Amino acid sequence: MPKPERHVLVCLNARPPGNPKGSCADKGAEALYDALRDRVKARGLGQRVIVNRTSCLKHCSQGVTIAVQPDNVWYAKVTEADLDEICEKHLEQGEPVARLSMPDIPWE
Ligand code: FES
Repeated sequence: MPKPERHVLVCLNARPPGNPKGSCADKGAEALYDALRDRVKARGLGQRVIVNRTSCLKHCSQGVTIAVQPDNVWYAKVTEADLDEICEKHLEQGEPVARLSMPDIPWE
């Protein structure tokens, strides 16, 4: 397999119930991760894009947090409804989805 063009990191970090920081797991990250992997495969992007689960990406209030490398594009509050657009525009055409851009905030 060649090196992937893009590496998508999906935060699946979980925290105990009641933790004030919350977590991406609380916001459905596991299902989102599975759905993104399914879409990447269905679109025939499996040789170009690798999708991995990761721990906290330090933008917990903005979860589910996704980072796409080497583009250094970060997405905030991603839901399953956003995945087709991310796949089509960014992962296929190389154009980041501006409306999902992570706000310029400090690490959390
Ligand atoms: S828990 Fe997902 S960014 Fe921190």
